[in-house]
Amino acid sequence: MSQSEPLLRVENLKTQFFTEEGTVRAVDGVSFEVGEGELVGLVGESGAGKSVAAQSIMRLVEEPGRIVDGTVTYKGRTLVDIERGPDGDLRESEAMLSRREMRTDIRGTEIAIIFQDPMESLNPVFTVGGQVREFIELNRDVSGAEAEEIAIDMLREVGIPEPVKRYDEYPHQFSGGMRQRVLIAMALACEPSLIIADEPTTALDVTVEGQILDLVDDLQEKYDTAFVWVTHDMGVVAEICDSVNVMYLGEVIEQADVDDLFHDTKHPYTRALLRSIPRPDRTVESLDPIGGVMPEAINPPSGCRFHTRCPDAREVCREVHPTHAPPEEGADAAGAGNDGARPADAARAAEADGRQPHLVSCVKYESVGYEHSESLEAEATGAFAGGLAEMRGGERDE
Ligand SMILES: Nc1ncnc2c1ncn2[C@@H]1O[C@H](COP(=O)(O)OP(=O)(O)OP(=O)(O)O)[C@@H](O)[C@H]1O
Ligand code: SF4
Ligand SMILES: [Mg+2]
Repeated sequence: MSQSEPLLRVENLKTQFFTEEGTVRAVDGVSFEVGEGELVGLVGESGAGKSVAAQSIMRLVEEPGRIVDGTVTYKGRTLVDIERGPDGDLRESEAMLSRREMRTDIRGTEIAIIFQDPMESLNPVFTVGGQVREFIELNRDVSGAEAEEIAIDMLREVGIPEPVKRYDEYPHQFSGGMRQRVLIAMALACEPSLIIADEPTTALDVTVEGQILDLVDDLQEKYDTAFVWVTHDMGVVAEICDSVNVMYLGEVIEQADVDDLFHDTKHPYTRALLRSIPRPDRTVESLDPIGGVMPEAINPPSGCRFHTRCPDAREVCREVHPTHAPPEEGADAAGAGNDGARPADAARAAEADGRQPHLVSCVKYESVGYEHSESLEAEATGAFAGGLAEMRGGERDE
């Protein structure tokens, strides 16, 4: 991916909400790339910053939110480039597309976004077909009749039975899964190169979710559309993604090719997320929820932001903010469950053959003295201690 210019490059993106309670650091230095036709996951618990990151790429962050740093480039065009002026004020660089260019050249035509709740995106008082047609007319240079034809074709393409008849029906006459298919049809109608899908299947039952994921897989292959797929579900990631960014409290804490992430998991948070996935060989009782809750993004914990919940946390984790880098050779020997591979070499090899290098933000993989640091276990109390014990128990069972 890094050998040629990726389709989308997000670098050090920071978005904050300036509220009465304080500054919410919703997205805090996020970087990732999306290659052409690649399906990239953004995964993490509620509040991790996934939606705000997605909205920031599209410049759809609402007040009191603001992108305060970073760049986003798409096909060599600058969607975001924030710099600081001499007196510290935030400025949009001259290279940045204007609001009008974002509307006319990017949104819908180049990059489409699909939201979690189709009812929010579909107007209940207009027919489904009419809304798809209008969207096509707005974004493509075609007549009304041609737009209608494309709309019906797209409804058929996403598996809506009897599309000519259903064209004239209203959103409430469609099931949740069918409404989500309509949004996918709308997103695809202008043949964008990238679709950002923000938890589009979360509200659906698992069977319908499976059908939609299969559909996306088929369409992705047919149209070679790239996706940023936002989800809290590692099972979904495993099913459709090529590479993954695991987010925690505004930061990407592990970034890898999907096979590397599942078979050579590095970060304790990713491990915990993986243990909480339902699988056919697990009973509900044996699922291992992550102990504690994610802290507020107004006052994130010092050092590693996961240290208040991490079963492996030591004193050094409270003091040192981990760098986001390939794991250092040998530095992960201290209790990281290392399999003896040379991770830095593996990261370089991945980069050389165009795959996502494996990056992790955890001091266990850095030479900062983790192995000699005191355990933070003594701090654990109440529910957190319970969760911690559960996580430890889960690890022993592996
Ligand atoms: N309009 C807003 N005003 C203030 N804070 C906000 C606003 N929108 C989002 N936030 C905060 O930004 C942080 C990231 O929110 P975001 O919606 O991106 O999380 P998420 O990962 O998408 O979670 P979910 O899985 O629940 O959708 C949270 O702390 C959230 O409270
Ligand atoms: S840096 Fe420390 S607290 Fe953070 S994930 Fe690694 S071991 Fe856990
Ligand atoms: Mg969200």
